[in-house]
Amino acid sequence: MVDDDASVRRSIARVIEAHGLATKEARSGAEALAILEREGEVPLVISDIYMPEMDGVTFIREALQRYPDIAIVMLTGIAEVSTAVECLKLGALDYISKPVVIEEVRARVDKALEKRHLVLQNRFYQQHLESRVRELDRRNKQSLINGVQMLVQALEAKDTYTSGHSARVADYAVKTAVQLGYTGDRLEQIRLGGELHDIGKIGTREDILNKPAPLTPDEFQHIKAHSALGERILAPFLSESPSVLRIVRSHHERLDGAGFPDGLTGAAIPEEARIVAVVDAFDAMTTNRAYRPSRAPFDAVDELRRCTGTHFDSDVVAAFLRAFPDPSAFPIPG
Ligand SMILES: [Fe+2]
Repeated sequence: MVDDDASVRRSIARVIEAHGLATKEARSGAEALAILEREGEVPLVISDIYMPEMDGVTFIREALQRYPDIAIVMLTGIAEVSTAVECLKLGALDYISKPVVIEEVRARVDKALEKRHLVLQNRFYQQHLESRVRELDRRNKQSLINGVQMLVQALEAKDTYTSGHSARVADYAVKTAVQLGYTGDRLEQIRLGGELHDIGKIGTREDILNKPAPLTPDEFQHIKAHSALGERILAPFLSESPSVLRIVRSHHERLDGAGFPDGLTGAAIPEEARIVAVVDAFDAMTTNRAYRPSRAPFDAVDELRRCTGTHFDSDVVAAFLRAFPDPSAFPIPG
């Protein structure tokens, strides 16, 4: 424990220098701001709350306004806890209680510098991502489709039983959507959403994807994450295609609210997602899976009808059956 001011300053300086950083001392908030003004932004400031000329609260406000990336850690006495909380609200990363324990200083400084590093790193990735999105915007539609197909191939290489599933779902979804009046860009978004609806399964473990037996509750939870994950993967690239994102996120919702990830009910489920839910289920039923053989198209149609109103939207099922009036005409995947 260190309790005279000079020793506290020396101890703190040693901790900071251990990070390879030079130290500078200021006797007041105003002097600290003047140093910043003169020398530019620094990674870390450790500041008292009560100082002459300018107190710690004002210093934080001023410093972070000009240099938002400085990691600020406050030194605070027991009686100053509420002020320390105010400092945290203003953007200080942490506070160290007096009397100072050197191990605590070390831990707080480590944490504050690491947090700052993460913030800067995130910003870098964010900016990188933004410029990537702008670059994508400049690309033509074909290159986006190529990327989509690559993603789908990557997924289908993991999940051999769903080979061709994405393309069939896209095809069935488009033909069903046409029956519901979709045209132009709205229809294209249905196609893309159909192709990409399961893309989040890239993050699903292969042993679960290909498990030749029913899933345990934990495994089911793991696989359920794919719809929200898929939306997160695609969101940076497809901000101009909200319908695609809605399909990817909500294609496992059910009218009765028993679906996932949001438990939406009825019309709260985006119509695009209700369309893909029907054709996805139909293709899943008529396809061999690791844990069960395929069902005949007639059976699958019966199942769609049976679950209409609870799982599936009746208008969508009717549109699907108008688009495919003869179940025997469906291509039966191998
Ligand atoms: Fe899915």
